[in-house]
Formats: sequence, structure tokens, C-alpha cells
Amino acid sequence: MQTKPRHKRGFVFAFHTTKKCFKHISNKPIFERLEKNRSMTSEQAKARIEYLSKEIEQHNHNYYVLSNATISDYDFDMLLEELHRLEKEFPEFVSSDSPTQRVGGGITKEFKTVKHKYPMLSLSNSYSREEVQEFEGRIHKLIERETEYVCELKYDGVAIGLTYVNGQLVQALTRGDGVQGDDVTTNIRTIKSIPLKLKGSDFPAEFEIRGEVFLPLKAFEKMNKEREEAGEELYANPRNTASGTLKMQDSSVVAKRGLDCFLYFLLGENLPFNNHYDNLTKAREWGFKVPEYMRKVKDINGIFSFIDEWDVKRHELPFETDGVVLKVNSYDDQDALGFTAKNPRWAIAYKFKAEQVSTLLNEVTFQVGRTGAITPVANLKPVLLAGTTVKRASLHNADQIEKLDLRLGDTVFVEKGGEIIPKIIGVDLSKRSVDSEPLKYITHCPECGTELKRNEGEAVHFCPNDTGCPPQIKGRMEHFVSRKAMDIDSIGAETIELLFQKGLVKNYADIYDLKKEDVITLDRMADKSATNLIEGIEKSKAIPFTRVLFALGIRFVGETVAKKLALHFKNIDNLMSATFEQLMEADEIGEKIAASIKEFFANENNVEIVNRLREKGLQFELSEAENTKVSDKLAGKTFVVSGVFAKFSRDELEKAIEDNGGKNVGSISKKTTYIVAGENMGPSKLEKAQKLNVPIISEDDFLKLLEAEAN
Ligand code: IVH
Repeated sequence: MQTKPRHKRGFVFAFHTTKKCFKHISNKPIFERLEKNRSMTSEQAKARIEYLSKEIEQHNHNYYVLSNATISDYDFDMLLEELHRLEKEFPEFVSSDSPTQRVGGGITKEFKTVKHKYPMLSLSNSYSREEVQEFEGRIHKLIERETEYVCELKYDGVAIGLTYVNGQLVQALTRGDGVQGDDVTTNIRTIKSIPLKLKGSDFPAEFEIRGEVFLPLKAFEKMNKEREEAGEELYANPRNTASGTLKMQDSSVVAKRGLDCFLYFLLGENLPFNNHYDNLTKAREWGFKVPEYMRKVKDINGIFSFIDEWDVKRHELPFETDGVVLKVNSYDDQDALGFTAKNPRWAIAYKFKAEQVSTLLNEVTFQVGRTGAITPVANLKPVLLAGTTVKRASLHNADQIEKLDLRLGDTVFVEKGGEIIPKIIGVDLSKRSVDSEPLKYITHCPECGTELKRNEGEAVHFCPNDTGCPPQIKGRMEHFVSRKAMDIDSIGAETIELLFQKGLVKNYADIYDLKKEDVITLDRMADKSATNLIEGIEKSKAIPFTRVLFALGIRFVGETVAKKLALHFKNIDNLMSATFEQLMEADEIGEKIAASIKEFFANENNVEIVNRLREKGLQFELSEAENTKVSDKLAGKTFVVSGVFAKFSRDELEKAIEDNGGKNVGSISKKTTYIVAGENMGPSKLEKAQKLNVPIISEDDFLKLLEAEAN
């Protein structure tokens, strides 16, 4: 069966009833379904729940472990929705390993520290072929005959130990200090490639399996993009992000981050085989994601060919790996070799050399972000590194430039290691010219000339002229009109530039003073575009409070934080007058965010801008819809609504989509999750949908998606 990939498949869950936003709608399909379930006997329900749980977990396994989707998004959502509804009606049959229990939601204030049943050792590292050869030589000498090795990749994430009792996941511990670790079971359960219940029956009654929790590159990039949009500091690399995510208190946030887990080591009394490779292969049958990159080899030649192959191919992998792990396969041989104080003698890690090249440092430029933060950027003579041409490298801050003692014209070493953005790791002093001078960090803003500041304890300089510094003003405006904020798509970065140059806007409140006569004077602005622009501005006045709050661009107040604040404080006045302590009382608001909010509203300019926006009619109060809805049921799903409908207007459908966390778009693309089609859907749309394999659903199907909690 051919299905489109379910990249962002989340679980369909309702938090609140959709009755409110759909009260004018016939609830016939909902009614019919409920009737059907009520007529189920308790036994039938139990059997159906068991069947659905198994079926859903199998699809999860196919998708998340085998990377092979065997069901469409829609059908999957339907199964899950049915299970969720049945479990609600027959709560006595909800089992802890039901797929509905993976969404998280549990809050762990402090993780329990638990002693490992078997100490969690790390591996000794080697950095050269000679060291690998020595390792193999040592083993050969001790074992006195040939022995097999298993070569694996070294996954760059966070080590985890999972304990299964009678086929059920009962505990997940981090490494900690190797003797005891943190119990992060609640968070681990949200990782869909980790089985909550094992397949088959030939697993030991109790065993532990260890592996690495990691964040795939795509998920990492997506997260950083979102952080960038929110003006938040970017995460440095996928490993730290995975580690931070695993320690988050709110497991429902963890569930959304897209963590994954490879398993590579089994421990227990009654494992089926007496060697590592066969046991891992068996574990794959039980449902674990045992990476396909492992290979059994006979000797040092086999080891080197694995290393050489992956030193090249690693750059194509969708996750990060920093080396290779070599393990003696036979358990008897492992036992004979034993352990040193810290590491097993039967395994070693070989670390890849981070690819390095040298090139010329031509110039250092300074970028000013929308929050005023200054980022020094090294402009390099273009050079090929790990498959891409590198022209720039981030220098982070003044301290780093000083530490490296960088000078213009230097030949520098550039490396692409764990970090996605290449970095300069040193200077080739042998090539330095005698008359070079240390680089002087700028003292004034390159854009507006204001003297830069640096807060105590912070590494980054910033331009304090937030109301007069062009990139800050323009950056804030770009954020304000952006899709997830005020969504004024008739204004883009170019228009903002033009409006700003003409002196028509100096802050985002000025946008609402614009008149058609003003905009039409802009370069390349036709009458129609000017009308669109003004209409777009007008329409944005209906954007709900949550998004207006996000649009204000308060540092550290991203989309999620804005939602939490809006729900807690209900309106802007409450938020503006909240004390630091009151801010901290809101869900997920910590010191850093609270301080940033206080600082924002302590600035009279900001208060004046908010007041002007309020006068213009923007929403500064939580609407009833926002207050009552907040369902994420359709989160991550993109809809195209097309045609004429019997039960709703198009606007109503689109609103329902948004109210439940989905996204409406105008045209069909590969990324569209569903097309909600009514009568008279255009033939070209139909053709495109079929070509791209996008499921077409009716308004009733759509209702079913929303139905989970409609009773
Ligand atoms: S085996 C006793 N296999 O690297 C051996 N570890 O310092 C247990 N790692 O703590 C580890 N990929 O977090 C093993 N294929 C792999 C690995 C791997 C990554 C990590 C693991 C471990 C560290 C070794």
C-alpha cells in the first residue's frame, strides 16, 4: 500500500469538547457513533480495545522503527480516535501500555534517582588506527585465537537503560554517574519507536536493554527554526538538545520534540543467545529499533573497512554519529576479557576526526538581531568541508575572538563537529603575517552607532537602542507580521524595508496608521497590492490575543509561552501589572522569562505602543473561543478546504481547524495532510491531490477527526 510519509504524525487528542465551536452544527455523525459504542457489551469493548491497541502499535512500529508506513494518516487517526473514545467509555480497560498513553502530560517536578541494577559503564575512546590495532592485538593475545567483532556506529545522544518485565516497559534510567541515574520513564514513554509492550513471547521475564536517545537532524533543525522565530537563543547541537529534552518536566512537551532511540546492548540473566549480535537481532523481533548499521567482522581488516566506509558515509545520515563502537561478539570471550575500573576490555569507541580544513579569514562582520544581540561572523575564503562550501563561521561573542586571538588575514582551521554551524577552532600561527594586529571588538552598533552594552554575566554584547536601531525595528516588524503572529501576508520583509526607508513606519503600531495613499507611493506598489495590503492590516485586528502577545516580540516569549501567559493572565492589563512573583506562578514561566516580561513593560515606549494597538482595535483579551478550545488535536496537520459544504460555511471549517491547532493553507502541496472537500471541488485541485497522494476527506470525516471528546 502506498501512503504518504507521516513525518509529523502526532496523536489525535482533544483537551476540551469541540461542542462550543460547533454548537450550530448537526451532531448526527457523532451521535450515531456513540450509539454504536454504547450498544457494545463490556466484553466486546475489551476485545476491541485490545485489537485497536495492537493494531496501532503495529503501525507505529512500521512507521517509527521500520520507516515504512502501512496506513494513511487519516486511517491511523481514525483508529486512534476510536480507541481513545472507547477507553473513555470503558476506563476499566485502559492499560498503561495503550498507545493513547504515549502523549505525555505527566509532570515530574524532580526525577527520582535510582540505582542501576548493572553499573552503566562507558567505553574507552581511541582516536587513531594504531589505537584500534592495539585494542585488537590485546584481545588476540588474551583470547589466543580468532574472535568475532561487532562494529556499530557511535550514536551521539544520551545513554538510556530500559527495563522490561514480562514484556512491559517498567523503567527508564539515564546514565547519571554510572552507579545511579534519573528515572525518566514518563518522558521515555513518549518516544514512539520505544515499545511499551514487546512483540512475541520469547523474551526473558526480566531484562535491560540499553541504547541512545537522540534527536534526528530534521527535528533539531525544526526546533531551532522555531526558536529563531521566537527570538530565542538557538540550541547548540542535537545531543545537548536531546539531553535537555529528556530532563524536561512536562512530558507532553517531550512528546512533541521528535526524539528517537537506537538500542545497542542487552543485559539480563536469561538472554536467548550467548553472543551480542544474535541477541540484538532477536531484540529487533521484539520490536526494538536496533540500528541496521551493525556488522559482524572477523578481524582487523573488517574493522578498518567498516571505519573507512562510515567515515565517509556518516555525513549522509539523518542523525549525528561521532565514531564507531567495536565489541567482541561472544559473551564467553567478553567474560574472559572482563573490565577495567571504568570500561569493558572487550569494547572500544573509535572517534572520527571532526573534519577540518584551513582557509583565510577575510573579514569579521557584526550582525544585529531583532533583540539587539550582536553576533560576530567570520567571513572566510570559501572552502569545501564535509560536503558543503563554507563561507562563514559563527564566532559567538567577543570572548571567543579573544580566546582564539583572531586577526584579519589569518589562516584559520574550520571544523564541523557536533555543531551544525561550522566553527573556527584555531589559527595556523606559522602562516600569520608579522604585522597583524589583534582584532578589536566593536564598541558601537554597526547599524545605528549607539554604544554597545554587555550585561553582567552575559557573553553577548547588545545594542540598547531598541527604538532607533534599524535592524531591530525592522526585525521586530517582520516578526510582528509573520504567519504565526499577526499573519499579515501582504507585508513582507521588502515592504517593511520600503516603508521604513520612507519614514512611514518606525514601530509596529505605525502599521495601523498606514493609508492606501501612503503605500501606493512605494516602489512597485500597484493599486491592487495597496488595497490588499490595507485589507490585510485590517483583517489582522481579529487575530486572537495569544498571537498578538507572541507578535509583540518580547524576548523569550515564543508561541507556547504566549499561549500559557494568555491563558493564565486573560488580558494584557493583568499581564502588564503582574509582579515578578505573579509571573512566576504561571505554568512554565521561569525567572528568565519573568524578568524579560517585566523589562519589556517597564519600557514606556512599549506600553505606549501596546496602548496604541489597543486603540486600533487589536485583541488584548482572551476570547471565549481561546479560553474554551485550546485543543491540539490537529496540531502538525495542514488542511486545504475546498468546495461548498452542507453543514458549515468554509469559514467555520477553517476556524475549527485553527481552533484545534491545525493549519489552513490555500493550495495543495506535498505537505498537505488532508483536503476537506465539499461539493464542486475544482478538478485541478482533485487532480493535484491524487497526484500527490493527499487524502481527500468529507466534512463528516472531518467531524470524526474532531469527535474524540464530543460527548
Ligand atoms: S555500548 C559497556 N554501543 O557511547 C558498553 N555505546 O562511552 C556500553 N554509545 O555511554 C555501551 N553508540 O552512551 C555502545 N553503538 C553503541 C553506542 C554507544 C553510542 C554511547 C553510550 C556510551 C558511550 C560510550
